[in-house]
Amino acid sequence: MTSKTLYIVVCGAPLASRAGDGVRAARAAGWDPYLIPTDAALPWLADQDLDDASVITGNRTPDQPRRTPPADAVAVVPATFNTLNAWANGNAHSYALTTLCTALGARTPTVAVPFAKKDLAGHPAWLASLAVLRYAGIQVVDPHDGSASSLRPLDSGTGDRVAMDFTWGWVLDRLGDSRI
Ligand SMILES: Cc1cc2nc3c(=O)[nH]c(=O)nc-3n(C[C@H](O)[C@H](O)[C@H](O)COP(=O)(O)O)c2cc1C
Repeated sequence: MTSKTLYIVVCGAPLASRAGDGVRAARAAGWDPYLIPTDAALPWLADQDLDDASVITGNRTPDQPRRTPPADAVAVVPATFNTLNAWANGNAHSYALTTLCTALGARTPTVAVPFAKKDLAGHPAWLASLAVLRYAGIQVVDPHDGSASSLRPLDSGTGDRVAMDFTWGWVLDRLGDSRI
């Protein structure tokens, strides 16, 4: 089987601590993963074993060649309040957001795992952004249990535990069809 390309966009929240596990799980499932962290995600990546995955940050210069093959699928794990709202609004002010907006425009199969505690998730923009993204075909997965039909905000102080219990199969299994 030829590997297909998976972009893993990583935002700045505790689930970013599982990016290395995502690389290994994606490879085991036959994907060729590239990590695309936001600036806020970088502290969580610093001490992780990323299994020598390519980490793509910042925009390339105009004379640089492309750094990645085109994506067959995209996983946004975790998707912060900030990035999810910006993505839904078509804001492409960082490389990670440009990647996400491009994937949405191209209808590249994408799974997002939103990660926001109750106070943030109570902001009206959050629900509106989720509706926009779902309408455009993004699969939204609950970080607590992998459900794609419901999404619970995090209780305060539970981020590290939810991250620890998170299973990458919840994301990769939903991208399965895009590898056919
Ligand atoms: C320790 C820590 C935990 C955080 N947890 C979350 C979180 O669970 N969800 C969230 O949306 N933002 C969280 N943030 C805030 C984001 O990192 C911040 O809004 C940042 O600007 C997001 O940038 P990004 O969307 O480009 O990754 C956390 C920040 C820190 C320092």
